[in-house]
Amino acid sequence: MLRPLLYLSALITLAGGQYFLVSIHQSAPYVSSMSSGAQQTFKASSEFDISSCPITIYGQTYQHAYVNLTSKNLVVCFNSFYSPGTKDDCIFGPFTDSDSAEFEKYQRIPVLETIVKYSMPTIKTRMDCYFSFSYQHNKGYATLALIKFGPRTVLYVYSPAEGTVVVDVQVEGTSADQVEVTNTPTSRQTRGYLDISGCRHSGAVYKPATQVNSPETCFSLTCDEDVVLKTSSCGPLERCLGNGSCIPAVLYDAIFNPKLDLVCTVTGPALIDFQGHVTSVKDRCTYSLLSIPSVPGLQVLANFQERRRKDVSFLDSVTLRLDRLGVHIHLKQGGRVLVDDSTLTLSSSAQMVHGVELSQDLTGVTAKLSLFNFTVSVFFDGYTVQIHLEGPIGSALHGLCENSNRSLTELKLSESSSTSCEMQYTDTNDSVINCTRMTEHCNFLKGAPFSSCDIDPEPYITACTDTLCSYPDLDALKCQFLEAYARTCRLKHNATLDGWRSKSECLNPEAFCQDRTCSDHEFCGEKTAGGDTRCFCRAIYASKYKDRNALGDPTVCNQNSASLTLVNCLLEDAGVDYTVLHLKDLTCRGHMDKERHVVIFSFNSTNHCGTEVTSNNNQIIYQNTVSNDDGFSNVITRRDQVFIDFSCIYLQEATKAFKIRSSSVIKVITSGVWNYTLTMKAYTDAARTQPVESNTEVWLDQKIWVELKTDGLDGDLISMVTKSCWATNQESDNGSLRYDLIKNGCANPADPTVKVEGNGEGTSNYFSFNMFQFSGRSGNIFLHCRLQLCVKEGNSCIPKCNGARRRRSIRPRNEAPALISMVWTN
Ligand SMILES: *[C@@H]1O[C@H](CO)[C@@H](O)[C@H](O)[C@H]1NC(C)=O
Ligand SMILES: *[C@@H]1O[C@H](CO)[C@@H](O)[C@H](O)[C@H]1NC(C)=O
Ligand SMILES: *[C@@H]1O[C@H](CO)[C@@H](O)[C@H](O)[C@H]1NC(C)=O
Ligand SMILES: *[C@@H]1O[C@H](CO)[C@@H](O)[C@H](O)[C@H]1NC(C)=O
Ligand SMILES: *[C@@H]1O[C@H](CO)[C@@H](O)[C@H](O)[C@H]1NC(C)=O
Ligand SMILES: *[C@@H]1O[C@H](CO)[C@@H](O)[C@H](O)[C@H]1NC(C)=O
Ligand SMILES: *[C@@H]1O[C@H](CO)[C@@H](O)[C@H](O)[C@H]1NC(C)=O
Ligand SMILES: *[C@@H]1O[C@H](CO)[C@@H](O)[C@H](O)[C@H]1NC(C)=O
Ligand SMILES: *[C@@H]1O[C@H](CO)[C@@H](O)[C@H](O)[C@H]1NC(C)=O
Ligand SMILES: *[C@@H]1O[C@H](CO)[C@@H](O)[C@H](O)[C@H]1NC(C)=O
Repeated sequence: MLRPLLYLSALITLAGGQYFLVSIHQSAPYVSSMSSGAQQTFKASSEFDISSCPITIYGQTYQHAYVNLTSKNLVVCFNSFYSPGTKDDCIFGPFTDSDSAEFEKYQRIPVLETIVKYSMPTIKTRMDCYFSFSYQHNKGYATLALIKFGPRTVLYVYSPAEGTVVVDVQVEGTSADQVEVTNTPTSRQTRGYLDISGCRHSGAVYKPATQVNSPETCFSLTCDEDVVLKTSSCGPLERCLGNGSCIPAVLYDAIFNPKLDLVCTVTGPALIDFQGHVTSVKDRCTYSLLSIPSVPGLQVLANFQERRRKDVSFLDSVTLRLDRLGVHIHLKQGGRVLVDDSTLTLSSSAQMVHGVELSQDLTGVTAKLSLFNFTVSVFFDGYTVQIHLEGPIGSALHGLCENSNRSLTELKLSESSSTSCEMQYTDTNDSVINCTRMTEHCNFLKGAPFSSCDIDPEPYITACTDTLCSYPDLDALKCQFLEAYARTCRLKHNATLDGWRSKSECLNPEAFCQDRTCSDHEFCGEKTAGGDTRCFCRAIYASKYKDRNALGDPTVCNQNSASLTLVNCLLEDAGVDYTVLHLKDLTCRGHMDKERHVVIFSFNSTNHCGTEVTSNNNQIIYQNTVSNDDGFSNVITRRDQVFIDFSCIYLQEATKAFKIRSSSVIKVITSGVWNYTLTMKAYTDAARTQPVESNTEVWLDQKIWVELKTDGLDGDLISMVTKSCWATNQESDNGSLRYDLIKNGCANPADPTVKVEGNGEGTSNYFSFNMFQFSGRSGNIFLHCRLQLCVKEGNSCIPKCNGARRRRSIRPRNEAPALISMVWTN
């Protein structure tokens, strides 16, 4: 009980003077009644529960005190034990002489309250309690006490030893205040008081009854007597004018920080430039929408193609050209993104590709690029592109978005300005288009809630009516213009235009045809209004077929194989599902090319697919049919019947002539659409191994074998017949002198040296004869043969020859030997 009493008497005598000595006596009984007060000796470090006397330091109230007692000093912190560099609130007491200290906690002591308030006249509130730490310092007994006066707190320091004691108060790691006690012969002071109440704001502390006003930042702060903090500043959407006045941020930026904030929109053929001028693109070329001279190497291009109508060109895809990197990023219909030639899979979380931030949501794909203080954001949903440009004011800009008044030709990319993209087409008038109704729809932009956005809707209305009066309202096209206007209001003015969707029946913000990939000659559209989608043929592409009433390309007949390519979007236009189509053999079905969206039917010599072979005049016809007729359930049918002829022909007759000058002759014969080669070669032996070369000497009456061989014919079904062969003394096959070797497929009965082998049995045959010369002439001999192809049916192709022979009369003997060589003549 000794120390509290001592301590109290010390407190009471602190201000000196008689009055307080009286108080001692008065308070003594009270003090002794406090013997139940908490008192505890501790060493090193200890945590104390002060929840019965929670004190508030600069606005922060604590329930615990963490005390480190080291040989250096005593540190009291309030969030955790002290460690250097901590951001805690701490009080640094004087050094210690011993390794232990006393902790005490007491309720209100009225006399103490009186004394403290005497020294601290700003404290008006009632004292509640206090706690203290006492320990040996410089051979005296020092005390640190924290006295709670409601929301306010006083730090009391007592040090009777000689010398100076400085107690530092740290708030959030920074020295906030200190109290000094100097006990020297000249300044006999053993006690100090410090008001550690106040407010804190953004890491700084403010004493009670403080007011701070900063007109520069429009920030003002008041910390009142009861340490209640009040601050005011500009709102999140406001900016400070520098004289204490706040104005809306938009207004501030417009005055002090002017910046380009431009939007350009292209939907279908219509373009609304940054200034709000409307232009219509009439061809299917590529145009530069935007380039910025101070951002070199960046260009945004728009590619136009036709869709449902030949006479209306449509924005089809957008390309971001990053010329410095040599990279092209293509934004296509269906949310497809190609980086050069490879497809990129996107998600709603942004992905950086060559410095471009790419992201995708249900409404479309956004590509954003920030360069040299410019931000270019390109949004594309397959129908509409919107370019949002932010950047320094006064910057030069190029492209159709900058000024659509400029001649379109000027901004057409040279590589696209092929005449084919510029060609204009006409189309039949669409009686379904109701221009009056479309105009009414477009005029929604004049009324609420659109009227709450102060962007001129007139360009959007013009683009909307111009487009919808020339192109059918399908594929949610009519909502594109309203959508574009609403987006512009959102981008530039953060306007939400609540309720516009239900009012204009554009309920679905989802981009059309997401994730459907069509090939280049197609676009994705809806089958019926609001219905399912599919790939449609572009109108100009389709017209090339529709003009011929065709569903695909002509049959391609190659050696031994034939194929027919049908265009799937044409089949779908005709209501035909390609999977029900087949050749005469029902198992021969079309194969879908997944990239080109074409269906390919084929047959060849190993798989005939039911092809029928017939001959007709001088043709051999391989005939098959693509149809959907499965041969069953013939009585009725509920689908249109499809029959597409699929034929290849051989021209049956071919006349070949050669001059005997070099050993062999090869001729590629394209008869109709089939292609085969015919070789004619002369030999000096029956096994046909010794060809007559250009230097071979052939003697009169020497036996010569001539082989006629074809390559590329279907030997199972076709054979070759040598109809006739004859010699002339001139190149032309009707030369004045003529000698027959083979007539009507048989050896000339007049010449017994002629023998014909294998004629009509296969795709090759040969004959032999003894060399001769035209009487009295030693010039060249030209040999001509006429061949015919024949459909095999048993032995029907083998010519019937009788054995009758007669002597040859015109072959003279003993004349100078002729050098023989053969060459084609025609
Ligand atoms: C304070 O005491 C704690 C608990 O014993 C200890 O972890 C910490 O290191 C001490 N701090 C200093 C600066 O000695
Ligand atoms: C601050 O300046 C603006 C414009 O100069 C003025 O309109 C406003 O009244 C001023 N505010 C004060 C508080 O002086
Ligand atoms: C961007 O703008 C800042 C100030 O507005 C300017 O200091 C800086 O030079 C600009 N940077 C470029 C690359 O233009
Ligand atoms: C663009 O053309 C329109 C009408 O032809 C004209 O009124 C406007 O002034 C032109 N704008 C520019 C920037 O040349
Ligand atoms: C199509 O419509 C235009 C304008 O409405 C008209 O001038 C033209 O004669 C029409 N053409 C046909 C073939 O009906
Ligand atoms: C076109 O639409 C208007 C307004 O919706 C309607 O009054 C008119 O009858 C329509 N015309 C035709 C030809 O359908
Ligand atoms: C835009 O408006 C929304 C609410 O309508 C708001 O949350 C947002 O902060 C605003 N953004 C800007 C940049 O003003
Ligand atoms: C013939 O077609 C079948 C299938 O249609 C194919 O498997 C085969 O390789 C083809 N044969 C030739 C010789 O082209
Ligand atoms: C016929 O075949 C030859 C050789 O294979 C080829 O050069 C020629 O292009 C073919 N002709 C046709 C029409 O396919
Ligand atoms: C031979 O045929 C050629 C062309 O085929 C013709 O010009 C010529 O008159 C014919 N000569 C004889 C003799 O029939």
